[in-house]
Amino acid sequence: MRLFPAFFQMDDAHVVIFGAGTNAERKTRLVAKTPARISLVTKRRPDWAEPFSDQLTIVTPEHAGQALDTARFTIIASDDEAEVQWAYELARAYGVPINAVDRKELCDFTIPSMLDRGQVVAAVATGGAAPVLAKDIRSKLETLLPERIGSLAALAERWRPAVKAAIDTETGRRHFWEAALRGAVAEAVYAGDDAGAEALMEDALSKFANETAGNETGPVHIVGAGPGDPELLTLKAFRLIQQADVVFHDKLVSKEIMDLVRRDAERVPVGKSKGEHLVPQDGIHELMIAAAEEGKRVVRLKGGDPFIFGRGGEEVEALREAGIEAHVVPGISSALGCAASANIPLTHRDHAQTLTFVTGHAQKGGVPDLDWQGLAKPHQTIVVFMGVGTAPVISEKLQEAGLPGKTPVAVIENGTRANEKRGFGSLDSLSRVIEEKGIRGPALLIIGEVAGLPAEALNRKIEEALA
Ligand SMILES: C[S@@+](CC[C@H](N)C(=O)[O-])C[C@H]1O[C@@H](n2cnc3c(N)ncnc32)[C@H](O)[C@@H]1O
Repeated sequence: MRLFPAFFQMDDAHVVIFGAGTNAERKTRLVAKTPARISLVTKRRPDWAEPFSDQLTIVTPEHAGQALDTARFTIIASDDEAEVQWAYELARAYGVPINAVDRKELCDFTIPSMLDRGQVVAAVATGGAAPVLAKDIRSKLETLLPERIGSLAALAERWRPAVKAAIDTETGRRHFWEAALRGAVAEAVYAGDDAGAEALMEDALSKFANETAGNETGPVHIVGAGPGDPELLTLKAFRLIQQADVVFHDKLVSKEIMDLVRRDAERVPVGKSKGEHLVPQDGIHELMIAAAEEGKRVVRLKGGDPFIFGRGGEEVEALREAGIEAHVVPGISSALGCAASANIPLTHRDHAQTLTFVTGHAQKGGVPDLDWQGLAKPHQTIVVFMGVGTAPVISEKLQEAGLPGKTPVAVIENGTRANEKRGFGSLDSLSRVIEEKGIRGPALLIIGEVAGLPAEALNRKIEEALA
């Protein structure tokens, strides 16, 4: 993030604008939407100044320093280069944050594209890289933010002390506001029925305070975060992640997905890497139960799908035993994400009529006791999770059971992420592929004819290009 958004408080603020031309007029019009006092530094009063006379004072250049002394920020909007330089040096000397129109190199801050809804202000900036894009985003926001959303914010401000007095936990207050600002109260404000909204607010507050006094334990959502690409999250996962008060997450959940968690939510890493548990499974259960009993909105966020080699089943059982509702939200398993990303159809009418997911890692370490004879049968695809470390044994066992050494394999590490790596080869060269590509995991092994299809397609393309 090369730009850091922050909003100036404009009650009792004083802003100094240099210039008298069109740019100065535009900036004055913008600043005059706030309650700030404006000092316009110019030799002559411009014609356009009249409508702003309540807020605007003309200051001659000799008195500019005095004006800057109390300025919250300054905008240099002069069209004259010498004047721009003079104003810049003067403002620097007074330590006032500077915006200079069309002079990015002189700016301490830039003025974003804005959407003004009274107490709700949205701002979009691209750091000067694409102002048109910023305007387009602003237009989209315009369609999303109801005209009277500022009135809703004003209502919330009026009710804040009463809500604080009636609900004593921060989590409880947040839940109340989420319900109130998204439900009937908001609808009444948007419809222009301010009196109705006030009555609904009173009603909602007394109901909420009574109900939550006896019923504080919330459900826990066990949510699949998918293989890493945030665009592969489900809409439901996205919504729950944004509403959660606390998120217990695995190592496999990508940073981009964790960035979607609300800024003030707790993030608790509990995941394991290569058999190393940060928090033992029982400890994870206890943490989730304790948080749910405190009335928090709990999300247990797991890589891929919670019910595929994800211990989702154990967590559901533990929660239910503790009398807590558990809801599972499926995620895109890494098997599906990696296959799509590497263009490997896991089933194919000509090549694979059976698809098997297996783990390459036994609970007590080493290779698990799998049905190698069954896995070695033709026309099927085997996807091995957690199989990088045991790949040599898996390759050996499958060949011993009769699967030909030339059977295609693909190894995909960090599938769907920016650092995805892919290696292709055959069953008898599996270890070499892993070593040559420097694959350490998280990675999947895909074994079967379908794993050769991307390579075949590539070879065909090369042949066609050479023909
Ligand atoms: C404990 S399992 C969890 C599987 C997960 N529940 C799912 O549905 O994908 C962890 C294993 O999933 C695989 N895995 C998870 N994310 C991956 C990714 N982005 N790319 C490749 N493999 C991944 C690796 O085999 C890793 O060792």
